Amino acid sequence: MTSLELMQLALAAARESPRAVRPNPKVGAALLTSDGKSLAARHEVFGGPHAEVRLAEEAKKQGLSLVGATVAVTLEPCAHFGKTPPCADLLIREKVAKVVVGLQDPFAQVAGRGLEKLKAAGIEVEMSPLSGACEALNREWLFAHRHKRAHVTLKMATSLDGKFFAADGKSQWITGPEARVHAHRHLRTRVDAILTSFATVKADDPLFSARDAEGKDFPSDKQPKVFVLSRSAPQDLSKFKIAKRAGGAAQWLQLASFEKSLQDLYAQGIFDVMVEAGPALSSAFLESGFVDEVCHYVAASYVGGEQSSFAPLAGGSLPALGFSLEALEQLSETDFFLRLQRK
Ligand SMILES: NC(=O)c1ccc[n+]([C@@H]2O[C@H](COP(=O)([O-])OP(=O)(O)OC[C@H]3O[C@@H](n4cnc5c(N)ncnc54)[C@H](OP(=O)(O)O)[C@@H]3O)[C@@H](O)[C@H]2O)c1
Repeated sequence: MTSLELMQLALAAARESPRAVRPNPKVGAALLTSDGKSLAARHEVFGGPHAEVRLAEEAKKQGLSLVGATVAVTLEPCAHFGKTPPCADLLIREKVAKVVVGLQDPFAQVAGRGLEKLKAAGIEVEMSPLSGACEALNREWLFAHRHKRAHVTLKMATSLDGKFFAADGKSQWITGPEARVHAHRHLRTRVDAILTSFATVKADDPLFSARDAEGKDFPSDKQPKVFVLSRSAPQDLSKFKIAKRAGGAAQWLQLASFEKSLQDLYAQGIFDVMVEAGPALSSAFLESGFVDEVCHYVAASYVGGEQSSFAPLAGGSLPALGFSLEALEQLSETDFFLRLQRK
């Protein structure tokens, strides 16, 4: 088995990591013993053993030795005492011959120290060419640690003419059920928190929980937190549904600047947030330059009317702002989905 194939095993294990690892990243590790046997393991739960520790435990159970073995890890082995002892020390103690690493860990307490420790102990360290796939596992987590602020996804649902709600104001939803199921399953279960406005809370009284196609809440470890972002003094939220939702009551987040709020969220271990608000806050966020990804559900309809539409950029295009189209998907007869990523 080549180093590349071993890293593919580690990647496959990491992709199955449950959300319970948050606020840790998804990490997978794979072992190739000196006599050609292989094994993979993943980090399973925050505070629990890291992928390398679980790999060593599993190897022991199966009677496999790490002496002279090659270990592939999707993220640099840690070098610090956190909730668990350093994984680099474990690999050194077990006399591993070679470690294939997917990515250097941007987390300040690791940041290259794990690799240095391994090299200083005489272990061969190889950086894997599969770094792109390792990056994709924890894209938002890595972004947050590199920029010391939460990663921001702006989620919107509009008509073709950029309206956020129907002209009569009666319907809360501009897109159909397929778009909502998609957003709940792929976005709300992914992010750590939803940022909204008091205007949207008052208008829609939304729950902002993650639900399946039947409207049933996903398990609580898949529920995002909710923050009501405002420049004003805190208001009473107790009469709204967000006060009694799965995933915990919404909190008021006093806004000084978008940058400061995103840094504060990062300091609380909230690394991946999604803005779900109306045209005013959505436009302001995009104009601020703090949107890293746009998830746009578009209904093939023209709403017309006088109500404000999404028009933040004085006619500017998203590519001109440094976004590229990453995905375009038709969800139903009437709705499609676009994902734009800051390059
Ligand atoms: N289609 C969709 O995807 C979608 C999603 C959500 C909501 N909606 C609809 O959108 C409507 C509400 O839209 P809206 O435009 O009135 O409100 P909005 O965009 O949800 O929120 C506007 C509020 O955001 C706060 N804010 C904080 N920083 C701001 C900034 N820099 N610039 C502007 N506002 C800032 C302000 O409240 P403070 O004064 O408290 O700071 C402001 O009143 C509702 O009817 C709802 O149904 C649609």
